[in-house]
Amino acid sequence: MLNLKNIEQANLGAHGIQWQSTLQAAQAKLQAARDSLLARRYDDAAMLGWMALPSDSTALEAALSLASELSAATYTDLIVLGIGGSSLGGIAVIEALKHPYRALQPNGVGLRVHFIDNVDGDVIAALLEVLDPKTTLVNVISKSGTTTETMSAYLICKAWLEQHLGASWANQIVATTDPTKGVLRPMVQKYGFRSLSVPPSVGGRYSVLSAVGTLPIALAGLDVSSLLAGAAQAQSGFENQTAFENSALQLALVAAEFAALGKPMIVMMPYSSRLKFISDWFAQLWAESLGKIRPDGTHTGTTPIRSFGATDQHSVMQLFMEGPNDKLLIFIRLAHDTRGTLIPNSEPSEPDMNYLGGKAFQTLLNAEQAATANALRTMQRPNLTINLEQLDAHNLGYLLQTLMLATAVTGELWGIDTFNQPGVELGKKFTYGLMGRPGFENVKAELEAQ
Ligand code: PA5
Repeated sequence: MLNLKNIEQANLGAHGIQWQSTLQAAQAKLQAARDSLLARRYDDAAMLGWMALPSDSTALEAALSLASELSAATYTDLIVLGIGGSSLGGIAVIEALKHPYRALQPNGVGLRVHFIDNVDGDVIAALLEVLDPKTTLVNVISKSGTTTETMSAYLICKAWLEQHLGASWANQIVATTDPTKGVLRPMVQKYGFRSLSVPPSVGGRYSVLSAVGTLPIALAGLDVSSLLAGAAQAQSGFENQTAFENSALQLALVAAEFAALGKPMIVMMPYSSRLKFISDWFAQLWAESLGKIRPDGTHTGTTPIRSFGATDQHSVMQLFMEGPNDKLLIFIRLAHDTRGTLIPNSEPSEPDMNYLGGKAFQTLLNAEQAATANALRTMQRPNLTINLEQLDAHNLGYLLQTLMLATAVTGELWGIDTFNQPGVELGKKFTYGLMGRPGFENVKAELEAQ
């Protein structure tokens, strides 16, 4: 899965590492980090419940049976309300696996899915202008059941459904939230919403394989079972393989080594338009998990940069090549595309074009990725490549779980709490105060005094 030749000191001098000896030296430490995570996995407070999601057949069945009940009705569109961990995973998977132009297909597979993950009134109102409330489902997703952005989106969608559907509005809302806590859960009882639960031991950015992701993904008509099977394979490899065999352990070590070598940034650059949103999902996973203050006051984290190829070769790549040598780049490369699309030889008498004719677009894309990786190496810029056979649900599940595991191990190596987010919580608290939420009057007064 991993190609690590472009991190080698032999190629990069002082900007590289001696991989085999580094791995050998770190083997015991990596396996101890893995064992420590696994030892805590059934302790709810440790927030490691996401490790069990790939094999949680009960949760999968609940999401699939609700999706099948809803798919049997005449719905055409699904609006997903959520932010951060409650939207980025669903967006990444649906954008990767759905028909890229699903919105233009009158009778395509699954519902058309629209995410509202910002409080941009223009965009929200524009979406409601074009959708038919009679055939639109709304899935409101908030683990805490209180997040301002999601609650404001719920309020406008509720009003819209109520205005157009009258008393039956609540039939078209599905709530995905904590089983007992928050504002949304009692509303499930009050209005009779359909609902699914987010396990308390699963944090937002690790929740893509819980009901947070599985319901919208299933309603989009995508293969959730294969997604989870791919993730289960990654989880099993993590539990059973040595550091010499396991990609998650190796990714964590590479990330930690290059952070220590003075590379404070990590670029996620899939060579695939459909994987573009994986970079957004990974950025949140990496930044919220690893950007922390240790008990001794020191800071940890490397800054994730979202990018995608080949498009960004004509944009930020110049900086990656010749700007400060302060980044580790991670490429994702697909061996095959789904359609095997060929470039036709439609200009046979143009030698500066006909060399492309008859070759697959994927061959060109992969040549561009290899060219970029090699050019970076010649400029002594460390980079590695994650190879996937093709973009399907199984491989995507494998990739997502591997990246979550790698993030968790990196946090262990750095000795931090990977699964909390005090910085995000502080921002939420200040917003509640400024917007006048009951119980937050002191916060408001404190902010006003400042
Ligand atoms: O990863 C996280 O914990 C956060 O990004 C949350 O997912 C985000 O703040 C949304 O929270 P909630 O699902 O409680 O509305």
